[in-house]
Amino acid sequence: RKVVLAYSGGVDTSVCIPYLKEEWGVEEVIALAADLGQGDELGPIQEKALKSGAVESLVADATESFVKDYAFPAIQANALYENRYPLSTALARPLIAKLLVEAAEKYGADAVAHGCTGKGNDQVRFDVSIMALNPSLKVLAPAREWGFSREETIAYGEKFGIPSPVKKSSPYSIDRNLLGRSIEAGVLENPANEPPEEIYLMTKAIADTPDEAEYVEIGFESGIPTSLNGKALSPVALITELNEITGNHGVGRLDMIENRLVGIKSREIYEAPALLVLIQAHRDLESLTLTADVTHYKRGIEETYSHIIYQGLWYSPLKAALDGFIQSTQERVSGTVRVKFLKGNATIVGRWSDNSLYSPDLATYGAEDKFDHKAAEGFIYVWGLPTRIWSQKVRG
Ligand code: ARG
Ligand code: SIN
Repeated sequence: RKVVLAYSGGVDTSVCIPYLKEEWGVEEVIALAADLGQGDELGPIQEKALKSGAVESLVADATESFVKDYAFPAIQANALYENRYPLSTALARPLIAKLLVEAAEKYGADAVAHGCTGKGNDQVRFDVSIMALNPSLKVLAPAREWGFSREETIAYGEKFGIPSPVKKSSPYSIDRNLLGRSIEAGVLENPANEPPEEIYLMTKAIADTPDEAEYVEIGFESGIPTSLNGKALSPVALITELNEITGNHGVGRLDMIENRLVGIKSREIYEAPALLVLIQAHRDLESLTLTADVTHYKRGIEETYSHIIYQGLWYSPLKAALDGFIQSTQERVSGTVRVKFLKGNATIVGRWSDNSLYSPDLATYGAEDKFDHKAAEGFIYVWGLPTRIWSQKVRG
């Protein structure tokens, strides 16, 4: 049996390699590390995979696809799980699953493997995405079955020459990519504890942010961010630059208790600076360019879409159908949003678009007013009729 393993270089995925071979009789483990802009050096990771017993160590450069094919559609959908979490970790899973399936097909593997535990969301996202893309592949999840504690995992690894990792001072579980960081465990497990400042890497503490406001104009074309301050940028460059600016002003942190798909509540800290600001700005531009009914109807779609991403259904027919709706709404969502950054706040202070539906003639309270005030009376008669009839019946 030959297996392609999703490999991060961490202790859990490293231990998966000898475990698959020793306990489950896998002959060849191919380790696949996905570069999603997490900023790790992937050279040492490749070496580590081979040292841990992989026959082959692949690195897939997927950052551009991550932004274009996963993050941008989520921004167009204003996707926020439980109205807050911009799905920075969740969005990476279907892409990694796709890379695993492609590698398995290329190398003739009959299974793929990942190092997720049995109590998280990520296992669901991997398993369901893999079965959607290639239902004949088996999915192996050693960490779901081995029943090791953290200490036992490390001890097992040491038997096979995998060095003991994480210092005692940093007991966090961290997932990171270009879009953000997800941090849990350690002192964070008590929801009453304030997150220690040391866990943050992408966002500054308010005390360290500039005293002067910074303005950034974000340009969108059909719902996709394409420029900062008038400068056209590639998808990856735009996110990278905006992460920098946003984090520098202490914007982009979340501390939340979230409802996992497997039924438990977990306390998670997120940093997702650019992604959060882009959703905020995109939503604002929609308020200028979409009709009222589309805007209101889309809110419901957005909630469903966020659940689809969170719950591992990226490659599902419902997702594809909702994409059709969302893409159709985005055609005219082009324009510019001006954001003011200051001391932990990102505030939208202006927006403009050639497709603006805002009509100064109708909105003004000045002399240029073109709105037919008298027409309102008949409208209100008809609009209020059901309420009037009800009231007459009830109140006599
Ligand atoms: N709870 C987040 C999600 O379901 C992040 C999961 C990974 N987090 C972590 N700290 N390893 O998308
Ligand atoms: C895991 O348990 O694999 C990480 C947390 C999660 O998936 O929600």
